[in-house]
Amino acid sequence: MTAPMTAPGTAPLIPRLAPPCAATTAEAARILAAGGLVAFPTETVYGLGADATNGAAVARLYEAKGRPSFNPLIAHVTDAAAARRLARFGADAARLADAFWPGPLTLVLPKADGCTVSELATAGLDTIAVRVPRHAVAQDLLNAFGRPIVAPSANRSGHVSPTTAAHVLADLSGRIDLIVDGGATAVGVESTIVACLDGSFGEPSLLRPGGVPRDDIERVLERPLAEAAAGIAVEDAPLAPGMLASHYAPHTRMRLNARNLEAGEALLAFGPVSVKGAQNAVKILNLSARGDLIEAAANLFSHLRALDAAKAAMIAVMPLPQDGLGEAINDRLQRAAAPR
Ligand code: TXA
Ligand code: MG
Repeated sequence: MTAPMTAPGTAPLIPRLAPPCAATTAEAARILAAGGLVAFPTETVYGLGADATNGAAVARLYEAKGRPSFNPLIAHVTDAAAARRLARFGADAARLADAFWPGPLTLVLPKADGCTVSELATAGLDTIAVRVPRHAVAQDLLNAFGRPIVAPSANRSGHVSPTTAAHVLADLSGRIDLIVDGGATAVGVESTIVACLDGSFGEPSLLRPGGVPRDDIERVLERPLAEAAAGIAVEDAPLAPGMLASHYAPHTRMRLNARNLEAGEALLAFGPVSVKGAQNAVKILNLSARGDLIEAAANLFSHLRALDAAKAAMIAVMPLPQDGLGEAINDRLQRAAAPR
């Protein structure tokens, strides 16, 4: 048997960046089976994959990310049938899976009897987050591996999610075995997370806005999503710890809804640049000059990284509308700007 990789000191100093092809898929599946860690693209952001059924591999994953181990992971599977072996689907969950899988939706559901995902990956909860990604590279890898793959975003814990292989390399070099380079991800923000839990949890609730806009989900449910009540907390952990106030953060401080720019600041723009003093910006990047929220989501994390690298005193952000993907974009911007 191959020795597990990514044990301290045994991960390659620089993980191999491999193009997506049949040989890469086979190599990635072998690494996962041996307990190693593989970063791969999904349509939302790059994930850092480990064998969901292997507790030691999951522990290594938490270690590589520097993630608090109470923060549970999403189990990625090939299709709804595979998800049903891990989780119990009620009528609402089944309709959402039908409508949006494969795609950028994660469902938090009661764990099924006989669920093979390690307790460490679900942080000991009796619920599990499941998702069927749409990206061809992710689908190929899941099919080749044949078991669920847990994959948080492939960044160091608390940092901005990666939308390119270069972002993954910048955060996780020396900590993982392989990066499958599928180019920039199309959606650019993480999946929408909806909890469909029976009993006292009641109505389907939005745990994290993301790649599927709220309106689309409510249209399928034929009723509004409940907010994730602050009271819904499991053993002092928020229901979706990704909801911790400061998350997704660059190192440079940020301020939102900027209408004028101070000396030494960089600007994250959206639409026509109407900000006073913009000509003096350390650096300006526009999420979408034509004001398109889909384009803005795809650019969000790479622009945050690029502005962070400019080492400005502050990143000022122009206001963005709240409709469609705007809810997810504004959510990530608020977390990035939260005091820490
Ligand atoms: O788009 C995505 O969802 C990406 C790609 C790689 O699939 N993954 C991702 O994973 O964003 P991660 O680990 O960065 O965020 C998963 C979120 C965390 O906030 C976690 O707390 C929440 O899902 N979560 C996982 N299991 C949960 C559960 N049983 N109950 C509530 N929240 C859960
Ligand atoms: Mg993350």
